[in-house]
Amino acid sequence: MWSRLRRFLDVLREDLDAAIRRDPAALTLVEVALAYPGVHAVWGYRLAHRMWREPHLRLPARLLSQAVRAATGIEIHPGARIGRRLFIDHGMGVVIGETAEVGDDVLLFHGATLGGKAMRRGKRHPTLGDRVVVGAGAKVLGPVWVGDGAQIGANAVVIADVPPGAVAVGVPARVRVKPRVLPDAVDVDDPAMYI
Ligand SMILES: CC(C)(COP(=O)(O)OP(=O)(O)OC[C@H]1O[C@@H](n2cnc3c(N)ncnc32)[C@H](O)[C@@H]1OP(=O)(O)O)[C@@H](O)C(=O)NCCC(=O)NCCS
Repeated sequence: MWSRLRRFLDVLREDLDAAIRRDPAALTLVEVALAYPGVHAVWGYRLAHRMWREPHLRLPARLLSQAVRAATGIEIHPGARIGRRLFIDHGMGVVIGETAEVGDDVLLFHGATLGGKAMRRGKRHPTLGDRVVVGAGAKVLGPVWVGDGAQIGANAVVIADVPPGAVAVGVPARVRVKPRVLPDAVDVDDPAMYI
């Protein structure tokens, strides 16, 4: 019981650290804990998701998630599956649907939507890998897959899979695969390049 509580508190602490790391404007852990709606929304989700896993607590979980939405402007369905260290910057208008899956170290800006395209039940929301960035106002729609490290441009509308490390921009989003950067690559202007 105590070890589970400790693990839960560790995850909450990681959420604070993630905000400090991802937002250059963040000053202190106390400021982030008190003044960041994106962090409050993720904490609310973590509690609501635990409740959602108990069938008799599903209604209270939905009510909690709606209360958090009223307070933060961020709607995360308690059934969504979200990894560790999600940071939602600014937050207002973010929507994460019931069957969405989000990896670790993901960054969402305000207005990002992980939404459905069809009204049928079942998997209908996107799956985001680790370290994905979704720009402000971007919509990722349907059960599409966004690979690890991909970046979705502000206001893009993504309706097809995005490969790992790619950048997707525009409406509908076009994918640009970034050139692979070698870990120890250095910026050298080698005259041989011009031969
Ligand atoms: C998509 C994004 C990640 C690309 O960043 P990048 O890798 O540095 O790429 P570049 O800026 O070099 O742009 C690459 C190309 O995509 C285009 N592009 C970049 N962002 C775009 C966007 N949001 N919509 C449409 N086209 C975009 C550029 O014009 C450029 O096109 P070109 O190759 O024809 O010249 C970035 O532009 C972006 O939108 N980030 C989201 C940031 C955000 O939401 N901030 C909110 C802060 S409050």
